[in-house]
Amino acid sequence: MRVNLTVNGRPQQADDVWEGESLLYVLRERLGLPGSKNACEQGECGSCTVRLDGVPVCSCLVAAGQAEGREVVTVEGLADLAGRRAEGGELAPVQQAFIDAGAVQCGFCTPGLLVAADEMLERNPNPSDEDIREALSGNLCRCTGYEKIMDAVRLAAARQQEAV
Ligand code: FES
Ligand code: FES
Repeated sequence: MRVNLTVNGRPQQADDVWEGESLLYVLRERLGLPGSKNACEQGECGSCTVRLDGVPVCSCLVAAGQAEGREVVTVEGLADLAGRRAEGGELAPVQQAFIDAGAVQCGFCTPGLLVAADEMLERNPNPSDEDIREALSGNLCRCTGYEKIMDAVRLAAARQQEAV
């Protein structure tokens, strides 16, 4: 089966997709986008989180065929979303904030957290700690104990507020 979709603003086509193949597999193995990570493949860890028509989803649970004609944004595309590039840099503000707050250790969870955090900040520019916890509740991190991740999202939100 052939699947046509838009990924990070570019039309893409994947051929010979087998029935049951996941969107995560298509992104990583067919389209050369390894940023979304493959850990549990069961929807438990959030390391494969991407946006599908704007909504964060576990791409390991989305059949590639379900993405036909739809818009996908992966961690590789975050910096290119309109108005999101950090001042003078190559990274989206949320990516820069994760670095500045020391929220990245092994980094395996980081792409999924970035996609989820970025989506929340777009919807909710002034989140409470509860809002942040809720938005990131599907993303597991084995390294950081989450406090630095909370700091990073608070920092990204504060910088976003300053920029308004
Ligand atoms: S790999 Fe998709 S949720 Fe863990
Ligand atoms: S930084 Fe290692 S799993 Fe989160």
